[in-house]
Amino acid sequence: MAETLIIEGGDKAARYASLRGQLAALLAGEPNRTARLANTAAALKQTFDWLWVGFYLIDDEQLVLGPFQGPVACFRIAHGRGVCGSAWARNETLVVPDVDAFPGHIACSSASRSEIVVPLRDSYGDVIGVLDIDSERLNEFDDIDARELEAIAALVAHGDAA
Ligand code: SME
Repeated sequence: MAETLIIEGGDKAARYASLRGQLAALLAGEPNRTARLANTAAALKQTFDWLWVGFYLIDDEQLVLGPFQGPVACFRIAHGRGVCGSAWARNETLVVPDVDAFPGHIACSSASRSEIVVPLRDSYGDVIGVLDIDSERLNEFDDIDARELEAIAALVAHGDAA
């Protein structure tokens, strides 16, 4: 299929619904993990225009910067550090309504106000990295984002034949 994305206007749920099917079709043709992560970051950025959308992948006991869209970001995050390292250590999605209120938050961009981090798991359920999204608005993310982004994280992580 052509690598295009057409997102209808509307509320958050409508945008996720529009994105979901198209992303599944897009990823179905590509087994390489880097390529899948790259276009997933681009599709999320294009759909919601958040400040930063990207992936960190576990490498040598650290999270290392992977494909992303947005301003330059820190290369490496230790286990348990910041929102990303905490989501990895706890193996759970973290929704942070106000990053200044999260102890140990790592400020890659001073424009970031709220954040969501979703673990990326392989087919055995082991964490292989995280999907990290930052917004310039406080309180941007809620249960709908957590549910939808967990589904997208599962979609992008699996089917990896690379
Ligand atoms: N804020 C993250 C660091 C990564 S950047 O936001 C891209 C954290 O606290 O883990």
